[in-house]
Amino acid sequence: MQPLQIVVLEGTTRVRRDSIHAARLVAEVGREQKGVEITFVDPNDFHFPGDGNDPEGKDPRYTAITAKADAFFIVSPEYNHSFPGSLKRMLDSELKNYVHKPVAFAGVSSTRWGGVRAIEALNQTVRELGLVSTFTDVHFPNVPTLFDEKGELLEPVYRKLVQSSYDELIWMARVLKWGRGNVKPDK
Ligand SMILES: Cc1cc2nc3c(=O)[nH]c(=O)nc-3n(C[C@H](O)[C@H](O)[C@H](O)COP(=O)(O)O)c2cc1C
Repeated sequence: MQPLQIVVLEGTTRVRRDSIHAARLVAEVGREQKGVEITFVDPNDFHFPGDGNDPEGKDPRYTAITAKADAFFIVSPEYNHSFPGSLKRMLDSELKNYVHKPVAFAGVSSTRWGGVRAIEALNQTVRELGLVSTFTDVHFPNVPTLFDEKGELLEPVYRKLVQSSYDELIWMARVLKWGRGNVKPDK
């Protein structure tokens, strides 16, 4: 059986970002899953020159990654009760590559909210992209206290929470992959 292709997206380009530690943890736990291949997308390594999905606005590497993806895991900080503009621009750069594929969320805050409002805002956007949301979210509140300066996790429970999210995401990725391959739409 082909391994499931899961793409872990870091949600910000901010220079002093802490959410990168959470995103790397999510990718690390993903690599421990059987029958799964993880691709880590850091928006700092990609180039999206403008808004929208014109051919000139795409990054061909992101196009290729999203085309072969079976599932996504978005790790997003909360900026002004929503998710960062750089994540929106990256998501908007593609259209059909997301359709009927599942997505899990991890929210990150330096406050006690754990990115809950970023996830709520993301949920509206991903639906319009054709993605299918899981409901086992992960929240990383007070993020500076959860990782040391090298990005090592200080609170082991978060590994378990990420695992629970993968349990649902992988199940849904298998179901939807089978459906996309085997069930023809009526129209
Ligand atoms: C522009 C901006 C807006 C923010 N707005 C919120 C917010 O609405 N709610 C919140 O809990 N944290 C907010 N924060 C703080 C983030 O939770 C904090 O930056 C956290 O470390 C996660 O994001 P990071 O990856 O940028 O570090 C904001 C941070 C920035 C830079």
